[in-house]
Amino acid sequence: SISLASAAAQAGLIYGAAASNADLEDEVLRRALVRECGAVTPEFEMKWDAIEPAPGELRFEATDRLLDFACSHGMAFRGHTPWWHLSTPRWLDGAEAKDFAKAARSHLVAVAERYTGRIHSWDVVNEAVEPADGRPDGLRRSAFLSALGPSYVAEAFGTIAEIDQTALLVLNEMGLEYEAPAAQTKRRAVLRLLEGLVGGGAPVGCLGLQCHLSASDRPSENVEFRGFLREVRALALKVMITELDVDGAGVRGDRAVVDQAVADVYADIIETVAAEGDLVGVITWGVSDAKSWLNSRINHRPARALPLNEAGRPKPSWRALARSLENI
Ligand code: G3I
Repeated sequence: SISLASAAAQAGLIYGAAASNADLEDEVLRRALVRECGAVTPEFEMKWDAIEPAPGELRFEATDRLLDFACSHGMAFRGHTPWWHLSTPRWLDGAEAKDFAKAARSHLVAVAERYTGRIHSWDVVNEAVEPADGRPDGLRRSAFLSALGPSYVAEAFGTIAEIDQTALLVLNEMGLEYEAPAAQTKRRAVLRLLEGLVGGGAPVGCLGLQCHLSASDRPSENVEFRGFLREVRALALKVMITELDVDGAGVRGDRAVVDQAVADVYADIIETVAAEGDLVGVITWGVSDAKSWLNSRINHRPARALPLNEAGRPKPSWRALARSLENI
């Protein structure tokens, strides 16, 4: 059987997975990454808190190791993610706005300058939108917003674009593919933000859809989501599935039943986004359910990312992913 990266390439897409240095030390995971992936997203090593554990103390080694691994296997590498409200360094908690602004700007420049030219696509800003925070513009109330003002998203794209003219610049968001009414509100706010960015000449090239789904999700049946994708396409923006996994918790049945339920969702989301958007590719958040952030969540639900069998070969649901890639 062909690799996922080859199946994706036949459909004009890239396929890859998030990985950590710990994954590279696991022979089964490492082999699966090399065999199946054409791209790698650092799972946490390239985030601000991991790179700058103390003021001005920049630690790039862990990211460098992942980047060197990707390069040595001809894989694309994703810049994830300079500005995210959940990965600001602890030493900035409670900092004055001007100190946060200075630190955020210098971090963004330092990371962009170190990796420019070697990045396929940057998740420049992650999860900037949160309508529940009550702002008319739908922006999340975060330290970035308080310290830099509502133009911080455009600023981030402008700063990175000045340094790195080769990478695709992505606004990454979660939950846009859900049914819930809150997801509809969020889609409206994201579209407004994108219209503002594009209208203002900010160099955004792509919307990243994280796609952390559950087995009961059916994005293909979400008419409003399909319309949203078409509106993003109408802004001449690409889309990328950046963190795909499907949580099989709650599916009743044996492993084969769960795998099939998960497989149906992989096919559903990929074919829907490919049909309505200008899809760049698919990144799963982890290469196997054996090692998934879903396992580490407090409630310890059985994670169903991309099942691998004991020998590290993809399981039926993974083949379904390949099939859905081939169907495009
Ligand atoms: O910090 C230690 C580090 O010192 C140590 O060397 C390493 C050894 O494995 O562990 C590190 O611990 C944790 C790391 O995951 C490894 O498991 C970090 O404390 C912890 O913050 C980190 O959590 C990551 C989380 O983002 C926050 O960065 C998860 O792995 C990662 O799956 C999760 O991914 C996020 C995306 O970036 C954005 N979208 C949601 C997604 C899931 O939450």
